[in-house]
Amino acid sequence: MSDTIVNVTGLNVSFGPVHVLKDVSARLDRSETLGVVGESGSGKSTLAKAMVGLVKASSGEVWVDGLEVVEASRRELAHYHRRVQMIPQDPFSSLSPRQTIGQTLAEAIDPGRARVGRHQDRIAEWLERVGLEPGMMHRYPHEFSGGQRQRIAIARGLILEPSVVIADEITSALDVSVQAQILELLAELRQSLGLTMVFISHNLAVVQRVSDQVLVLYRGQVVEAGPAERIYQAPQHWYTRALLDADPGSPGFTLD
Ligand SMILES: Nc1ncnc2c1ncn2[C@@H]1O[C@H](COP(=O)(O)OP(=O)(O)OP(=O)(O)O)[C@@H](O)[C@H]1O
Ligand SMILES: [Mg+2]
Repeated sequence: MSDTIVNVTGLNVSFGPVHVLKDVSARLDRSETLGVVGESGSGKSTLAKAMVGLVKASSGEVWVDGLEVVEASRRELAHYHRRVQMIPQDPFSSLSPRQTIGQTLAEAIDPGRARVGRHQDRIAEWLERVGLEPGMMHRYPHEFSGGQRQRIAIARGLILEPSVVIADEITSALDVSVQAQILELLAELRQSLGLTMVFISHNLAVVQRVSDQVLVLYRGQVVEAGPAERIYQAPQHWYTRALLDADPGSPGFTLD
Protein backbone atom coordinates (compact mmCIF):
# COMPACT_ATOMS: atom_id res chain seq x y z
CA MET A 1 0.00 0.00 0.00
CA SER A 2 1.24 3.47 -0.80
CA ASP A 3 1.87 5.91 1.99
CA THR A 4 0.55 9.20 0.60
CA ILE A 5 1.64 12.25 2.57
CA VAL A 6 0.71 15.04 0.12
CA ASN A 7 -2.57 14.87 -1.74
CA VAL A 8 -3.74 17.90 -3.70
CA THR A 9 -6.99 17.58 -5.63
CA GLY A 10 -8.74 20.04 -7.93
CA LEU A 11 -6.85 23.03 -6.57
CA ASN A 12 -7.77 26.44 -7.94
CA VAL A 13 -6.04 29.66 -6.93
CA SER A 14 -6.81 33.13 -8.24
CA PHE A 15 -5.25 36.49 -7.55
CA GLY A 16 -8.07 38.90 -8.31
CA PRO A 17 -9.21 38.17 -11.86
CA VAL A 18 -6.10 36.12 -12.66
CA HIS A 19 -6.65 32.39 -12.44
CA VAL A 20 -3.16 31.14 -11.51
CA LEU A 21 -3.71 27.45 -10.64
CA LYS A 22 -6.35 25.56 -12.58
CA ASP A 23 -7.65 22.27 -11.27
CA VAL A 24 -4.22 21.14 -10.08
CA SER A 25 -3.84 17.68 -8.56
CA ALA A 26 -0.63 16.25 -7.13
CA ARG A 27 0.39 13.32 -4.95
CA LEU A 28 3.50 12.45 -3.03
CA ASP A 29 4.36 9.35 -1.02
CA ARG A 30 6.46 9.37 2.13
CA SER A 31 10.24 9.22 1.53
CA GLU A 32 9.82 10.24 -2.08
CA THR A 33 10.53 13.45 -3.96
CA LEU A 34 8.00 15.15 -6.22
CA GLY A 35 9.63 17.46 -8.75
CA VAL A 36 7.55 20.38 -10.00
CA VAL A 37 8.75 21.95 -13.24
CA GLY A 38 7.48 24.73 -15.48
CA GLU A 39 8.52 28.06 -16.92
CA SER A 40 8.51 31.33 -15.00
CA GLY A 41 4.96 32.32 -14.07
CA SER A 42 3.53 28.81 -14.49
CA GLY A 43 2.43 28.73 -10.85
CA LYS A 44 5.12 26.63 -9.15
CA SER A 45 5.64 28.93 -6.17
CA THR A 46 1.90 29.45 -5.86
CA LEU A 47 1.47 25.67 -5.58
CA ALA A 48 4.22 25.55 -2.92
CA LYS A 49 2.56 28.37 -0.98
CA ALA A 50 -0.84 26.69 -1.22
CA MET A 51 0.72 23.57 0.30
CA VAL A 52 1.78 25.54 3.37
CA GLY A 53 -1.38 27.62 3.57
CA LEU A 54 0.28 30.88 2.54
CA VAL A 55 -2.10 31.53 -0.33
CA LYS A 56 -5.83 31.06 -0.22
CA ALA A 57 -7.31 28.44 -2.50
CA SER A 58 -10.62 29.30 -4.14
CA SER A 59 -11.48 25.62 -4.34
CA GLY A 60 -9.96 22.19 -4.02
CA GLU A 61 -8.33 20.17 -1.28
CA VAL A 62 -4.78 20.20 -0.01
CA TRP A 63 -3.99 17.36 2.40
CA VAL A 64 -0.50 17.36 3.81
CA ASP A 65 0.61 15.06 6.62
CA GLY A 66 -2.93 14.56 7.86
CA LEU A 67 -4.03 18.20 7.76
CA GLU A 68 -6.47 19.72 5.27
CA VAL A 69 -4.55 22.97 4.73
CA VAL A 70 -7.27 24.95 2.89
CA GLU A 71 -9.70 24.67 5.81
CA ALA A 72 -7.16 24.68 8.63
CA SER A 73 -7.33 27.18 11.47
CA ARG A 74 -4.46 29.51 12.23
CA ARG A 75 -3.60 27.44 15.27
CA GLU A 76 -3.50 24.20 13.30
CA LEU A 77 -1.27 25.89 10.72
CA ALA A 78 1.17 27.07 13.39
CA HIS A 79 1.74 23.46 14.52
CA TYR A 80 1.85 22.33 10.93
CA HIS A 81 4.61 24.78 10.04
CA ARG A 82 7.00 22.90 12.29
CA ARG A 83 6.29 19.68 10.39
CA VAL A 84 6.38 21.14 6.89
CA GLN A 85 9.36 23.34 6.09
CA MET A 86 10.13 25.54 3.11
CA ILE A 87 13.70 26.11 1.98
CA PRO A 88 13.89 29.51 0.30
CA GLN A 89 15.46 30.34 -3.05
CA ASP A 90 17.77 33.05 -1.77
CA PRO A 91 19.47 32.08 1.48
CA PHE A 92 21.25 35.42 1.74
CA SER A 93 18.13 37.45 2.26
CA SER A 94 16.60 34.80 4.51
CA LEU A 95 19.60 34.43 6.86
CA SER A 96 19.83 37.23 9.40
CA PRO A 97 23.14 39.09 8.91
CA ARG A 98 23.34 39.84 12.66
CA GLN A 99 22.99 36.25 13.82
CA THR A 100 25.65 33.58 13.78
CA ILE A 101 24.78 30.41 11.93
CA GLY A 102 24.47 28.71 15.32
CA GLN A 103 21.94 31.29 16.48
CA THR A 104 19.95 30.94 13.25
CA LEU A 105 19.77 27.17 13.69
CA ALA A 106 18.95 27.48 17.40
CA GLU A 107 16.08 29.76 16.50
CA ALA A 108 14.77 27.24 13.99
CA ILE A 109 14.59 24.71 16.84
CA ASP A 110 13.24 27.14 19.42
CA PRO A 111 11.51 30.11 17.70
CA GLY A 112 12.19 33.46 19.33
CA ARG A 113 15.24 32.23 21.22
CA ALA A 114 18.60 32.21 19.52
CA ARG A 115 20.37 30.31 22.30
CA VAL A 116 23.01 28.04 20.91
CA GLY A 117 24.20 26.51 24.20
CA ARG A 118 21.57 23.87 24.82
CA HIS A 119 21.33 22.88 21.15
CA GLN A 120 25.05 22.90 20.42
CA ASP A 121 25.40 19.16 19.69
CA ARG A 122 22.38 19.07 17.43
CA ILE A 123 23.57 22.14 15.50
CA ALA A 124 27.06 20.64 15.09
CA GLU A 125 25.56 17.39 13.84
CA TRP A 126 23.42 19.15 11.23
CA LEU A 127 26.29 21.31 9.99
CA GLU A 128 28.23 18.11 9.39
CA ARG A 129 25.29 16.47 7.67
CA VAL A 130 25.17 19.28 5.10
CA GLY A 131 28.93 19.15 4.53
CA LEU A 132 30.01 22.05 6.75
CA GLU A 133 32.16 22.10 9.86
CA PRO A 134 30.74 22.34 13.37
CA GLY A 135 33.09 25.25 14.17
CA MET A 136 31.28 27.30 11.52
CA MET A 137 28.35 27.80 13.89
CA HIS A 138 30.17 30.81 15.32
CA ARG A 139 30.39 32.60 11.97
CA TYR A 140 28.05 35.07 10.26
CA PRO A 141 26.32 34.64 6.85
CA HIS A 142 28.63 37.06 4.99
CA GLU A 143 31.58 34.78 5.80
CA PHE A 144 30.16 32.03 3.57
CA SER A 145 29.92 31.42 -0.18
CA GLY A 146 26.55 31.16 -1.92
CA GLY A 147 26.74 27.37 -1.97
CA GLN A 148 27.64 27.23 1.74
CA ARG A 149 24.76 29.55 2.57
CA GLN A 150 22.42 27.27 0.69
CA ARG A 151 23.76 24.35 2.78
CA ILE A 152 22.98 26.37 5.91
CA ALA A 153 19.45 27.04 4.63
CA ILE A 154 19.05 23.31 4.02
CA ALA A 155 20.25 22.52 7.56
CA ARG A 156 17.79 25.07 8.92
CA GLY A 157 14.96 23.50 6.91
CA LEU A 158 15.80 19.98 8.08
CA ILE A 159 16.90 20.44 11.69
CA LEU A 160 13.37 19.90 13.05
CA GLU A 161 13.16 16.73 10.98
CA PRO A 162 10.01 17.85 9.19
CA SER A 163 7.71 15.34 7.57
CA VAL A 164 7.78 17.27 4.28
CA VAL A 165 10.35 19.72 2.90
CA ILE A 166 9.45 22.13 0.12
CA ALA A 167 12.44 23.40 -1.83
CA ASP A 168 11.54 26.23 -4.23
CA GLU A 169 14.29 26.96 -6.81
CA ILE A 170 17.01 26.42 -4.22
CA THR A 171 19.74 25.88 -6.80
CA SER A 172 18.70 28.48 -9.37
CA ALA A 173 20.95 31.28 -8.11
CA LEU A 174 24.05 29.09 -8.00
CA ASP A 175 26.82 28.44 -10.54
CA VAL A 176 26.40 25.17 -12.40
CA SER A 177 29.23 23.40 -10.50
CA VAL A 178 27.91 24.53 -7.10
CA GLN A 179 24.41 23.58 -8.21
CA ALA A 180 25.68 20.07 -8.91
CA GLN A 181 27.17 19.85 -5.41
CA ILE A 182 23.90 20.91 -3.80
CA LEU A 183 21.96 18.37 -5.89
CA GLU A 184 24.43 15.73 -4.77
CA LEU A 185 23.89 16.73 -1.15
CA LEU A 186 20.11 16.48 -1.57
CA ALA A 187 20.49 13.06 -3.18
CA GLU A 188 22.61 11.94 -0.21
CA LEU A 189 20.12 13.29 2.32
CA ARG A 190 17.27 11.56 0.50
CA GLN A 191 19.14 8.30 0.96
CA SER A 192 20.30 8.76 4.53
CA LEU A 193 17.24 10.49 6.01
CA GLY A 194 14.45 9.20 3.80
CA LEU A 195 13.55 12.80 3.07
CA THR A 196 10.09 13.57 1.71
CA MET A 197 10.40 16.56 -0.58
CA VAL A 198 8.65 18.77 -3.08
CA PHE A 199 11.45 20.03 -5.30
CA ILE A 200 10.64 22.98 -7.55
CA SER A 201 12.71 24.19 -10.49
CA HIS A 202 12.22 25.63 -13.96
CA ASN A 203 14.92 23.19 -15.14
CA LEU A 204 13.67 19.70 -15.99
CA ALA A 205 17.17 18.18 -15.96
CA VAL A 206 17.72 19.46 -12.42
CA VAL A 207 14.30 18.21 -11.29
CA GLN A 208 14.91 14.82 -12.85
CA ARG A 209 18.16 14.37 -10.87
CA VAL A 210 16.47 14.42 -7.49
CA SER A 211 12.87 13.37 -8.12
CA ASP A 212 10.95 10.11 -8.09
CA GLN A 213 7.83 11.67 -9.58
CA VAL A 214 7.59 14.75 -11.79
CA LEU A 215 4.71 17.12 -12.38
CA VAL A 216 4.85 19.55 -15.31
CA LEU A 217 2.98 22.84 -14.90
CA TYR A 218 2.10 24.97 -17.91
CA ARG A 219 0.14 28.18 -17.38
CA GLY A 220 -1.27 26.95 -14.11
CA GLN A 221 -2.30 23.52 -15.35
CA VAL A 222 -0.76 20.10 -14.94
CA VAL A 223 0.05 18.95 -18.46
CA GLU A 224 1.96 15.83 -17.50
CA ALA A 225 2.75 13.86 -14.36
CA GLY A 226 4.46 10.55 -13.73
CA PRO A 227 7.68 8.77 -12.77
CA ALA A 228 10.75 10.98 -13.36
CA GLU A 229 12.45 8.40 -15.55
CA ARG A 230 9.43 8.00 -17.82
CA ILE A 231 8.91 11.77 -18.21
CA TYR A 232 12.57 12.19 -19.16
CA GLN A 233 12.78 9.24 -21.55
CA ALA A 234 9.33 9.43 -23.10
CA PRO A 235 7.61 12.79 -22.57
CA GLN A 236 4.00 12.74 -23.73
CA HIS A 237 3.12 16.42 -23.90
CA TRP A 238 4.64 18.88 -26.38
CA TYR A 239 5.45 21.30 -23.55
CA THR A 240 7.48 18.68 -21.67
CA ARG A 241 9.33 17.93 -24.90
CA ALA A 242 10.03 21.65 -25.32
CA LEU A 243 11.48 21.76 -21.79
CA LEU A 244 13.68 18.79 -22.62
CA ASP A 245 14.80 20.23 -25.95
CA ALA A 246 15.95 23.34 -24.12
CA ASP A 247 18.32 21.22 -22.04
CA PRO A 248 21.74 20.40 -23.56
CA GLY A 249 22.04 17.22 -21.46
CA SER A 250 18.78 15.67 -22.61
CA PRO A 251 18.21 12.98 -25.25
CA GLY A 252 16.10 15.30 -27.39
CA PHE A 253 18.38 18.34 -27.46
CA THR A 254 19.18 19.76 -30.90
CA LEU A 255 21.31 22.74 -31.87
CA ASP A 256 19.52 24.83 -34.48
N1 LIG B 1 0.49 37.56 -4.61
C1 LIG B 1 0.22 37.62 -5.90
N2 LIG B 1 -0.64 38.52 -6.38
C2 LIG B 1 -0.94 38.59 -7.71
N3 LIG B 1 -0.41 37.76 -8.63
C3 LIG B 1 0.44 36.84 -8.22
C4 LIG B 1 0.82 36.70 -6.84
N4 LIG B 1 1.70 35.69 -6.73
C5 LIG B 1 1.88 35.19 -7.98
N5 LIG B 1 1.12 35.88 -8.87
C6 LIG B 1 1.03 35.59 -10.32
O1 LIG B 1 0.75 34.22 -10.46
C7 LIG B 1 1.46 33.66 -11.56
C8 LIG B 1 2.28 32.48 -11.08
O2 LIG B 1 3.30 32.95 -10.22
P1 LIG B 1 4.30 31.96 -9.49
O3 LIG B 1 5.17 32.81 -8.63
O4 LIG B 1 3.55 30.89 -8.83
O5 LIG B 1 5.11 31.38 -10.72
P2 LIG B 1 6.44 30.50 -10.72
O6 LIG B 1 6.15 29.33 -11.59
O7 LIG B 1 6.88 30.25 -9.33
O8 LIG B 1 7.47 31.46 -11.48
P3 LIG B 1 9.06 31.64 -11.24
O9 LIG B 1 9.71 30.51 -11.98
O10 LIG B 1 9.36 32.96 -11.90
O11 LIG B 1 9.35 31.64 -9.78
C9 LIG B 1 2.26 34.79 -12.15
O12 LIG B 1 1.56 35.31 -13.24
C10 LIG B 1 2.34 35.80 -11.05
O13 LIG B 1 2.46 37.11 -11.56
MG1 LIG C 1 8.62 30.73 -8.25
